Amino acid sequence: MDLGLSGRKAMVLGGSRGIGWFTAALLMSEGCDVAICARGADGVADAGRRLAAIRPNGNVVAEAADLTNGDATRDFVRNAVNRLGGLDILVHNASAFGADNSEESWRRSFEVDVMAGVRAVEEALPALKASGAASIVFVGSMASKFHFGRPPGAYGPVKAAMRAYANEIAQTYGKDGVRANVISPGAVWFPGGSWDQRKQENPKFYAAVEKAIPLGRLGTGEEIARIIVFTASPAGLWLNATHIAADGGQVAAVD
Ligand SMILES: NC(=O)c1ccc[n+]([C@@H]2O[C@H](COP(=O)([O-])OP(=O)(O)OC[C@H]3O[C@@H](n4cnc5c(N)ncnc54)[C@H](OP(=O)(O)O)[C@@H]3O)[C@@H](O)[C@H]2O)c1
Repeated sequence: MDLGLSGRKAMVLGGSRGIGWFTAALLMSEGCDVAICARGADGVADAGRRLAAIRPNGNVVAEAADLTNGDATRDFVRNAVNRLGGLDILVHNASAFGADNSEESWRRSFEVDVMAGVRAVEEALPALKASGAASIVFVGSMASKFHFGRPPGAYGPVKAAMRAYANEIAQTYGKDGVRANVISPGAVWFPGGSWDQRKQENPKFYAAVEKAIPLGRLGTGEEIARIIVFTASPAGLWLNATHIAADGGQVAAVD
């Protein structure tokens, strides 16, 4: 199946590592020009070089930007759209992973998981409306619909807010050809990621999580990236205003 991504212009917020990196790399290999940001200047520069190596004739923008900062977020998006020469795909992948219940954790989580998406959409909207095949994908979490037994914290609630916002975008801008969806991973393993760390620190807990997933293991970064990229692509056109659980059946619910 041709995803229709050749020559498209894509942006991944939080694209230097993990799911964001796998998504940016797959978009690149499918023929997109790709812009990424992350806080760590070295990490984002290295990721930019690795993206350029995937398709040496492609256009890559890789800049350090902290998505807790509104001006930095808007500047990154505006400059990246200019340097790419337009925008067809926006993926908001970064999270503050606000595990605890402190006010600081709630504030950071709201800034990164929700407001960075709001600001990026606002800045990118003129370019997305001009695309003719525009798609916004928010990377959520199954914590937005299921209680995993952790004490109260910001993470699940802000991902739930992200889902409601994505629906508003989809309902409002569908008429302009702009789709919006949320992909919610369950537990995802990749080298150096949070579940890799848990695997090393607490192998018993990790094994129990694996056992509880019907497919007998955690998902991988590549598997989540494929779902994000399909949803973002013209081939996924009829997905709009949707929440997709990408968890291998980890949450044992009907929908
Ligand atoms: N991994 C899982 O099991 C899992 C499960 C469910 C949902 N998810 C969701 O999937 C998404 C990606 O998770 P992941 O595990 O791949 O994360 P990760 O490995 O920690 O990577 C996060 C990426 O975002 C960047 N980032 C983080 N905070 C940022 C900020 N304030 N400004 C700019 N960039 C920022 C990071 O780079 P810097 O640190 O250099 O900024 C990095 O490139 C998140 O939205 C998460 O909630 C993940």
